[in-house]
Amino acid sequence: MKVISRRRILQLGAVAMGGALVASRVAQPFNLLPNQTGQALRSVPLLPARQPEPGLVVAELEAIEAVVAVAGVTAKLKTYNKMFPGPLVRVQEGDLLRLRFINRLANIHTNLHFHGLHISPNVDDPFLHGHPGDMAHYEFELPKGSAGTYWYHPHAHGEVAQQLFSGLAGAIVVAGPADELPELKAAEEHLLILKDVTLAGVEVAAHLPFDVAGKEGNLVMVNGALQPVLQAVKGTLRLRFVNTSTARYYNLNLEGHAMHLIATDGGFIETPVALKGLSLAPGERAEVLVQLERPGRFRLLDGANELMTLVAPARPEPTPLPARLVEVEKLDLSQVKTTRQVIFNRAGLGEFRINGQRFDPARTDIQAHLGDLEVWEIKNTLGNEHPFHLHTYPFQVLSRNGIAEPFRAWKDTVNLNGNESVKIVVPFRNFTGRTVFHCHIAEHENSGMMGVLEVVA
Ligand code: C2O
Ligand code: CU
Ligand code: CU
Repeated sequence: MKVISRRRILQLGAVAMGGALVASRVAQPFNLLPNQTGQALRSVPLLPARQPEPGLVVAELEAIEAVVAVAGVTAKLKTYNKMFPGPLVRVQEGDLLRLRFINRLANIHTNLHFHGLHISPNVDDPFLHGHPGDMAHYEFELPKGSAGTYWYHPHAHGEVAQQLFSGLAGAIVVAGPADELPELKAAEEHLLILKDVTLAGVEVAAHLPFDVAGKEGNLVMVNGALQPVLQAVKGTLRLRFVNTSTARYYNLNLEGHAMHLIATDGGFIETPVALKGLSLAPGERAEVLVQLERPGRFRLLDGANELMTLVAPARPEPTPLPARLVEVEKLDLSQVKTTRQVIFNRAGLGEFRINGQRFDPARTDIQAHLGDLEVWEIKNTLGNEHPFHLHTYPFQVLSRNGIAEPFRAWKDTVNLNGNESVKIVVPFRNFTGRTVFHCHIAEHENSGMMGVLEVVA
């Protein structure tokens, strides 16, 4: 039985009301491009970077409003470097990334968060608020063993949902030794950034009070386009998915093909896992291999909806899957020092909370010690789904409703369905400082579903 969550019900209500609300703006026409769907998939342009010395990558990002192509039309979005999605930051394990960031948005605070990267909370600081015109310098090293797919987005509390929904998101790809495996090098690689938006005329539809349940856009895009076409050249594809939506979940299937999971949020798993379908909660990433066995056009579906069409080559010759990718560390649970409960609940309709508390940047909710291994039991007492996300410190999921996870993987975001509970194990390594954990439905985080973690020496 498919249960429609409360969030979805509210969303359906929102669509109906939204229709009435935008009716008065119909006079503002879209600037229609020749074809709104079915264009060739655009690959995400690289962020231009300088390498003044080996291992040092220097680049600039600015948050700025710009009129860009989105879903086959043009509209005014909040962007990074006037691009939607934001430019791809491609780096290597061990690189030092030096990023200058300027807030050119009028009247709003913003900052940068490097979602999923194990870097110091003093650099990746979610409490920092950059005023308009401010410049910030972010400099950090990409950890060894971190090869994988990450992303960047704003983290100025209270503004995140609107800013993310309006276009402020980009991907980070960290390359590492495992990418040199011949089976991976033989595959054709594509980054697929998933994002939804609703336009009201040439602007992004504003968040309204009832959107606190989670705003899902009516235009669902891959790399900023509606139902683009990916013409494959090789027989095996490596697809990197990033869910950059504020609230939309994706339940992905590729017609006629199995997807073989090779990486989750925090990088490679040990061996490929054949999936029945791939679900991605807001914030999550996954990498899959797809072997094309025959020519044809195959739809990438989200539930019943077409997201993209994949065109296989005339005579596809799929290359084999790797037998083994990397070793994922087995954490020694006998060393666990502390077990905690993190409870998702709410104070009233639309007032989402953690352990009954509304986010307060001045309060420390959890204090942990550097070097400790902790188990967190995350309990969702609500009937709808919430993705739990922890900054800075990657974790492994141990069990879901008491059932052990089928394989080891590093994660930073894990979904909880209604009334589920999930146990994770987190090693607090390398960095002290204050950071946050929260629900990654950005509207819930906005409403206060976030807590402060401080790691002390
Ligand atoms: Cu994408 Cu606080 O995170
Ligand atoms: Cu994050
Ligand atoms: Cu939530």
